[in-house]
Amino acid sequence: MAQQQTSRIYERSNRAHELTPDERRIYDALDQSRMPQHVAIIMDGNGRWAGKRALKRFLGHQQGAESVQYVVETASRIDVPWITLYAFSIENNLRRPETEVGFLMKLLKSFLVANVDRMNANNIRMAYIGRTHELSDDVQETMRWAEEQTARNTGTTLTLALNYGSRAEIVDSARSVVAKMFAEAHQRGISIEDMLAAEGGDVEAIAARIDENTMAQNLYTAHMPDPDLVIRTSGEQRISNFLLWQLAYSEIFVTDRLWPDFRGQHLLEAIQSYQQRERRFGGLGETTDENLSDVLPSEAELAR
Ligand code: FPP
Repeated sequence: MAQQQTSRIYERSNRAHELTPDERRIYDALDQSRMPQHVAIIMDGNGRWAGKRALKRFLGHQQGAESVQYVVETASRIDVPWITLYAFSIENNLRRPETEVGFLMKLLKSFLVANVDRMNANNIRMAYIGRTHELSDDVQETMRWAEEQTARNTGTTLTLALNYGSRAEIVDSARSVVAKMFAEAHQRGISIEDMLAAEGGDVEAIAARIDENTMAQNLYTAHMPDPDLVIRTSGEQRISNFLLWQLAYSEIFVTDRLWPDFRGQHLLEAIQSYQQRERRFGGLGETTDENLSDVLPSEAELAR
């Protein structure tokens, strides 16, 4: 591709001085020791945004693409290492009219071409998750180009989920675990049966080779931490087949604001709300006022 190579190498750095005054006001009140390392966003409401203004849906998507750039730049200024955006689901691909899917793909290409320089200026690295090999060749080519152009950046990694479905991802993870077992047997020059027999041939022992860690290491997101915070715009209280495994302990922030109206300031508000939560990961949490010696029943209570 003819576009000029414009990558610059930066160290990871906080560029809070570049925030707008409204963003800065919220940012200054945040607890720097509790910043989320990974923020995931379900960008919803483009169609409604356009409908409210009696505009065609595509204009909502176009405006939504502008929000992507604004929000990601704010994330990079405050040095959030990972931001993952649900840009196009497998269900969008299958269930939306071909004309809308075609428009979204064109928009993605023009977004990437138009914004690579800004990504580089903000030290943002581009990445993708999803069954991207099913997208058309020209879209894949532009995606690869943008990824390569930004590969040397060291700040925020922007991951776009494209032709992404979380159930499909979990299926792909299981397939990859099995494929690796076959590859291992092949490499050792033995059949899979012989390899498994060498491990005792016991079905349970073989199944135990697969644990949560194995599954997670074979997800598209194996190289990233799980999201600390997931944001959904436009008020729907659903996960919509997004990062089902990875969101197990994420804090959820739902806002009525439609995605084309979402800006860096709203990202900071979501982080502010996140910092007011107590994360427990299934435990009791630090601020529990429970006297731990009172957790178990007494002899008398047991006898009742
Ligand atoms: C939901 O709007 C959003 C999408 C279908 C995908 C998100 C797409 C964008 C933000 C635009 C382009 C993105 C990039 C990265 C170039 P909706 O149509 O479901 O809205 P509705 O629920 O109000 O109809």
